[in-house]
Amino acid sequence: MNIKNISINNFRNIHDILVEPCDAVNVIYGENAQGKTNFIEAIWLFTGAKSFRGARDSELVLSGETAAFLKTEFYLDNRNQDCEIKIEKKRSAVLNGIPLQSVSQLAGNICAIVFSPSDLNLITDGPAVRRKFLDTAICQLYPAYIDKLKTYNRALAQRNFVLKDLKYHSELFNMVEVFENTIANVGADIIKYRIRYVERLNEFVPIIYSGFTCGKENLKIEYISTGSRDANEFYMILKNSRKDDMNTLSTSVGPHRDNLEIKINDMSIKTYGSQGQKRSAALSLKLSEAEVIKSITKQQPIALLDDVMSELDPGRQNYILNNINNRQVFITCCDPSNIKNLVGGKIFRMQDGALLNE
Ligand SMILES: Nc1ncnc2c1ncn2[C@@H]1O[C@H](COP(=O)(O)OP(=O)(O)OP(=O)(O)O)[C@@H](O)[C@H]1O
Ligand SMILES: [Mg+2]
Repeated sequence: MNIKNISINNFRNIHDILVEPCDAVNVIYGENAQGKTNFIEAIWLFTGAKSFRGARDSELVLSGETAAFLKTEFYLDNRNQDCEIKIEKKRSAVLNGIPLQSVSQLAGNICAIVFSPSDLNLITDGPAVRRKFLDTAICQLYPAYIDKLKTYNRALAQRNFVLKDLKYHSELFNMVEVFENTIANVGADIIKYRIRYVERLNEFVPIIYSGFTCGKENLKIEYISTGSRDANEFYMILKNSRKDDMNTLSTSVGPHRDNLEIKINDMSIKTYGSQGQKRSAALSLKLSEAEVIKSITKQQPIALLDDVMSELDPGRQNYILNNINNRQVFITCCDPSNIKNLVGGKIFRMQDGALLNE
């Protein structure tokens, strides 16, 4: 899929721009606070998701204006299509002339992955961020997984709630067993989904990361579970942890405590990785996510790469510029010298909310 043109009106600091990107790498460079991330954010909204910066809709409208308008013509499923988004207090969308009930119905049309500097927390923060990365990706691919997560979290909250009274009310044991049954059955399914998804990611992660480092380093990811993908086994693990859990009033095992371990050359990247390694690893995970989407949906997602060049050495920068152009890419940077090795592609300069062709 490819975006043919985008027009943006009254969106953040962007008054009025019309852009015709190329089908390969599009670079947007400019000084700080000129509107580069705003532009990336505008494209991201066509996926139907919320702003990746966690912004409220009203914050997206140019201050002093009442509404922002985003329009795009794109090529998908062998035909030209178009989409319009209006942002006021809330967003509304029209796809190929048909108004949608909700912008989330745009999902599955323009698909994209976004990488922004804050995604480094995939590597540097605790396991919760990596579990969220897996869950978000799996939910997009398999809607049934959303219900599994809901059921699991409900049973988990119920077990934790009852644990505190268990010492005094032995009649609650039956209830705990019911909750543990659900946790074990649904939790085992969640673990199976995650392991399968990590297997799929692993088909791409080592290749992409090796490209970054010219084959000098290898990156591996592994799902580490505190439970089990086997429901009976998980139930036993849960039962065995019950005594300890009664003291802490929390459930110490299960997918809500699992981790995605990330290693470079068999060493933990969180502990030993350099800044550039961490950034390359986070980027490799995101680009692998795009490859998994492509292998399952047969659509090539657009890559939106915000400010990825800083902290990467010229070899890694070159890899990004010239080896990920089998899809449409939008990439921002401050320093135009970062992009001097771009072969082909289009370069734009962002200045005070205006986009200039170079
Ligand atoms: N709703 C809004 N109305 C007007 N201006 C806004 C609005 N939201 C953000 N801005 C302005 O947009 C500018 C920031 O744009 P953006 O985050 O895209 O910068 P950038 O080019 O990515 O910079 P950096 O290189 O620092 O990341 C700031 O000047 C900010 O005040
Ligand atoms: Mg920015």
